[in-house]
Amino acid sequence: MTINKAPVPGPGILDIAPYIGGDARLDGIERPIRLASNESALGPSPKAVAAYVALAGEIHRYPDGGAEEFRHALGEHYGLDPARIVCGSGSDELIGLLLRAYAGPDTEVLYSRHGFLMYPIGAQSVGATPAAVPERDLTADVDAILARVTEKTRIVFIANPNNPTGTYLSGAEVARLHRGLPSSTLLAIDAAYAEFVNRNDYDAGAGLVEHAGNVVMLRTFSKIYALAGLRLGWAYCPPAVADVLNRVRGPFNVTAPALAAGVAAIDDVEALDRARAHNDRWLPWLSERLAGLGLPLTPSVGNFVLPRFPDTPGHDAAAAFEFLRARGILTRKVAGYGLPQHLRITIGTGEEMERVAAVLAEFMGRR
Ligand SMILES: Cc1ncc(COP(=O)(O)O)c(C=O)c1O
Repeated sequence: MTINKAPVPGPGILDIAPYIGGDARLDGIERPIRLASNESALGPSPKAVAAYVALAGEIHRYPDGGAEEFRHALGEHYGLDPARIVCGSGSDELIGLLLRAYAGPDTEVLYSRHGFLMYPIGAQSVGATPAAVPERDLTADVDAILARVTEKTRIVFIANPNNPTGTYLSGAEVARLHRGLPSSTLLAIDAAYAEFVNRNDYDAGAGLVEHAGNVVMLRTFSKIYALAGLRLGWAYCPPAVADVLNRVRGPFNVTAPALAAGVAAIDDVEALDRARAHNDRWLPWLSERLAGLGLPLTPSVGNFVLPRFPDTPGHDAAAAFEFLRARGILTRKVAGYGLPQHLRITIGTGEEMERVAAVLAEFMGRR
């Protein structure tokens, strides 16, 4: 037996650059303005909070591992078949489960160049090779993705809309992408920000899931439903994929308070409408203000913007990040996404938006 040897992780694990979340704390400032993680501006539905609190006396019980009530509530709300829904501890978990089940050593996973980082991280963690496909105008390029598919490609991930770029593919473009893929390659459409989109040609992908055996739609309660801290996501799948995910997931992977809050949140249509109306007002407002300061932006359809800063030292993205930070405003650096000249800024409350616009005006006005 070999002694004095440290345990060795699987192939590729130590090559993973760990995911770095947005800052949440700022020394010396009790309540910083938190615009770094695309969380909700308005907070959760009071009904969801009440449902969560009501479960406090029951947390010695295991949750319903089949998430019956939640899946049926989703099915009713979205007009979907509950049997095709699989729940996860956030959509992050579902991304990982898809990779664990369908990818592995000697396979490839495609994602667009500035796509959500959990796709390459998750791929590496199962020993698969992530391949970043170049984008066009910070938008996923269907032709480039199709040209990159090989017999080793197991999953193509598309965040639609994408984080951090805020850009999206129309329903027709996603359908064209799907048509070009072999039936053995899974298309994972990650629609985490779907509820914010107000474009007529957008489609989150449920119809495609129902008509194809190789499309999965991922959704989350972390964004417009404002339950990021509870970790609640779901996948809409072909029956065979739902069966696979149900085999590999933990039996109680979603907590009881998360499920209860999720059911109440679905029911609170007014809270959803308020959140959407808020974003519809402040997303264009902030976009126009920043453009007016000379900061180019690609049009975002999510709850965040991605201004590009000048290259000049003192006015670049790193300087802007520090300038905002010194004034109690947390934003997200996106150099890890291959976007060193940009910052991602979440749509917060109206007051927060006015403040961030004023501070950036001051920053851009500096000599
Ligand atoms: C595109 C995208 N997918 C998935 C997630 C993960 O969400 P969840 O909180 O459900 O794990 C995020 C979170 O930022 C995201 O931006």
